[in-house]
Amino acid sequence: MTTKAPPSQPAAHVETDETGRALRSPPDLGTGQHRSALVNVTNVCNLSCKHCFVFRDENPKDARDKIDDVTLLHQLRVLRDRHGIEFMLFMGGEPMIRRDVVLEGMKLFPMSAIVTNGTYGIPSVPGRIVTVSLDGPEAPNDAIRGEGVFQKVKEAIHARDPDDGTVVLIQMAVTHANESGLEEFVEAVRDWPIDGLTFTFYVPTRDDRTDLVWKDLRERDPVVERLIALKRSHPGLIKSNIGALELMLSDVALRYTGERGEPCRVRNTLPLFIGRGGEFERPFCCYGNDVDCARCGAYGVFNTAYHQMQDRREPMLQG
Ligand SMILES: C[S@@+](CC[C@H](N)C(=O)[O-])C[C@H]1O[C@@H](n2cnc3c(N)ncnc32)[C@H](O)[C@@H]1O
Ligand code: SF4
Ligand code: SF4
Repeated sequence: MTTKAPPSQPAAHVETDETGRALRSPPDLGTGQHRSALVNVTNVCNLSCKHCFVFRDENPKDARDKIDDVTLLHQLRVLRDRHGIEFMLFMGGEPMIRRDVVLEGMKLFPMSAIVTNGTYGIPSVPGRIVTVSLDGPEAPNDAIRGEGVFQKVKEAIHARDPDDGTVVLIQMAVTHANESGLEEFVEAVRDWPIDGLTFTFYVPTRDDRTDLVWKDLRERDPVVERLIALKRSHPGLIKSNIGALELMLSDVALRYTGERGEPCRVRNTLPLFIGRGGEFERPFCCYGNDVDCARCGAYGVFNTAYHQMQDRREPMLQG
């Protein structure tokens, strides 16, 4: 008896590098669909900010763990198609240490943005957002981000072409240690050539005993109220929504963060950190593995909740 040979299968398309070596596929990160994601393109940073969640003990963060340019772009493409990613936030470490691959990677996504410490200059990415981090007026900023950083970033922002089509925002991460500089900071940067100011609040670890964290949410409330007042007096400059800021107040905040991120909408964003051997790892959330959701101040948590309620026209502060 003769058996017919099975019809030949079309050969699977394998992407290779310039030497013909097959490119490594990204790890299995589940089958979930994620409209937005963030990628730490490097675990290297030239600064060591006091509040930084990236370099905490429980996170993948070893500077020796790297993904080369070709593999990184390949894996981002695969993950985009696998998870339906439409928006990618390029982060680090300091993403501008890998400027070229970031600019290349941004082309893979319909929407993308960069968050940078601004010390390598401000990239020109017309139509896209570049968020530059500064954590208060000069003295408190430099106490957190390092001596001379405020002036360096100020120069970089003034050196760029303000008409290049890049949307440049400055972001302050508000902590218990720099909160006193809130109003002075707005005064200091209000006339700079930027498109706006954003604020986020500190995300602590579970046993955070640093001077960065408020004892509890009630102690944070007056700072949130001060930011709401600033928004009222600078509505165009400050991008934060009053409705979202109100959700941060202690009487309601836990509804949006939960004790362990249960209702948190930021967890729909796929975080890609570089772990051992240069493999992408997905930590608990964009802020890493060891986070205290009950005291989380990530503006995005409250802003997404606010927008979803607006869409559904739910009453915002119902009992
Ligand atoms: C981790 S940094 C990476 C990108 C870049 N190196 C920079 O500093 O902008 C991204 C943003 O997260 C903020 N950030 C860092 N640690 C934080 C924390 N524990 N809570 C809230 N925001 C934090 C930084 O201030 C910065 O605006
Ligand atoms: S510059 Fe950014 S990544 Fe580097 S230590 Fe500061 S917050 Fe962290
Ligand atoms: S730490 Fe904040 S952003 Fe992360 S899961 Fe908890 S509530 Fe969400």
